[in-house]
Amino acid sequence: MSKMIDKELQQEVDKRRTFAIISHPDAGKTTLTEKLLLFGGAIRLAGTVKARKASKHATSDWMEIEKQRGISVTSSVMQFDYNGHRINILDTPGHQDFSEDTYRTLTAADAAVMLIDVAKGVEAQTIKLFKVCAQRGIPIFTFINKLDREGRSPFDLMEELEQVLGIRSVPMNWPIGMGRELCGVYDRMKNQVELFQGDDHSTIEVRKVEDYRDPLIKEMAGDFLYEQLGQDVELLDVAGDPFDYEKVLKGELTPIFFGSAINNFGLQTFLENFLELAPKPEPRRSTEGMIEPTNEKFSGYVFKIQANMNPAHRDRIAFLRIVSGKFERGMSVKHVRVGKDIKLAQPQQFLAQDRDIVQTAYPGDIIGLFDPGIFRIGDSLSEGSSIVFDELPTFSPEIFAKVTAKNALKYKQYQKGIDQLTEEGTIQVFNTVSFDDTILGVVGQLQFEVFEYRMRNEYGVEVQLQRMPFQFARWIVAENLDPSKFRINSTLVKDKKGNYVVLFENEYAMRTAMEKNPDAQFLQTAP
Ligand code: G4P
Repeated sequence: MSKMIDKELQQEVDKRRTFAIISHPDAGKTTLTEKLLLFGGAIRLAGTVKARKASKHATSDWMEIEKQRGISVTSSVMQFDYNGHRINILDTPGHQDFSEDTYRTLTAADAAVMLIDVAKGVEAQTIKLFKVCAQRGIPIFTFINKLDREGRSPFDLMEELEQVLGIRSVPMNWPIGMGRELCGVYDRMKNQVELFQGDDHSTIEVRKVEDYRDPLIKEMAGDFLYEQLGQDVELLDVAGDPFDYEKVLKGELTPIFFGSAINNFGLQTFLENFLELAPKPEPRRSTEGMIEPTNEKFSGYVFKIQANMNPAHRDRIAFLRIVSGKFERGMSVKHVRVGKDIKLAQPQQFLAQDRDIVQTAYPGDIIGLFDPGIFRIGDSLSEGSSIVFDELPTFSPEIFAKVTAKNALKYKQYQKGIDQLTEEGTIQVFNTVSFDDTILGVVGQLQFEVFEYRMRNEYGVEVQLQRMPFQFARWIVAENLDPSKFRINSTLVKDKKGNYVVLFENEYAMRTAMEKNPDAQFLQTAP
């Protein structure tokens, strides 16, 4: 009996791929997600993704944003099947939705697809998200989008990846022309060409070729593009990095694909290559060592908590990444931090705006658990044991505001709200050492709006937020800390646990402080 389960579990693990798309706003993430979902026939989902996009410029009312966008304010998961694989795409919100959740979601992914606009190259938000992925050492696949438009030279982009992100790259395919001239991509690994025909590039044909010198390409692309392709690929063969799968898996080499999401161009071959190369659900580190996905006992961790999806109820949803074993609805698991057994009776998965009830799920899958207030980010759940997964990283806030209650009489509610909301982990709270002011720090502006909204609606407190000019927070570890050394364009504060943190207005101030305090350590997150 046990062998049977083993085999089933192994098969389910083998077919799963869980990844996040990282990009700067407007690179085409919504379009790419939608097209990928369409490959799996998940049209209903694609519709939702579109709807979400239409309300890109939503108002500041958070609940309204939630309602309109359904799944977008905080990251969630979309699932589809393709060629025998089950694929989970984790959404990483951008724009003003950018928050610590965006970063933490990356801890639940086993690979990332880095989407880059061919004309714009590596942009600010791509860099931030890339760093988090690089820290975890997960494989990163690059898709250069919008090839139907004039853009930068592919070589130029490869160099930028190396200069700005410090990652070497290996093109899996190579464009034949670009913009209006674009007529296809040459697949270096499989020796085939994907040709786009017709004015709107809508006809797509995949042909086997001998290699990039095949006369068929000349026939389709004309002399000029054929010559150019020949020169480029020859250069890549001679001077480029060879494909090294070990390096790809360690995140040291990124396979690059070229295409155009909106035209479906290069997408199918991208998806197929990606599914072949992307890792299946990876083990996670815990107090009991590495927990393998095929470990029969169910386990997982909460990486995100989303409050008030339904305004009529104060429920929250805890998003759990399954690490090992099989999830079955109604099962009892240990909530390790509180040391109690709980029954997972109401698991939800966010597909479109419905909440589908999940009956079974496997490693790599994400389930949403109904949370009456018992979960915290980083909590471990496990069947029959007390596994505790490694703590999830916190991220250095970059936007700061001083907060006060408009009505001083509501102080108790105000304090309770701050305590509870900061516990959810998307806002960090600091107190100034000199005046005991309260300063909030976030990584995305929307978190402030959400905070204000929730303080008003859940705790009945109107708050005032006053933006502060700081951009960096550094936790200071030093023997004898002299506060007077942090007076220039910076402020000394304490975090919730009483650790000293300095908030800096700019990089210059930070560097000066570092020079003045050579014995102190300046950490990006709490020690
Ligand atoms: P995002 O989620 O990363 O912010 O990007 P999104 O998919 O919303 O795409 C941003 C814009 O880029 C959209 O245009 C979209 O149509 C366009 N786009 C996406 N993929 C491609 C591509 O392969 N080629 C070209 N030429 N454009 C692409 P928009 O004008 O903002 O929206 P819409 O009016 O077209 O819907």
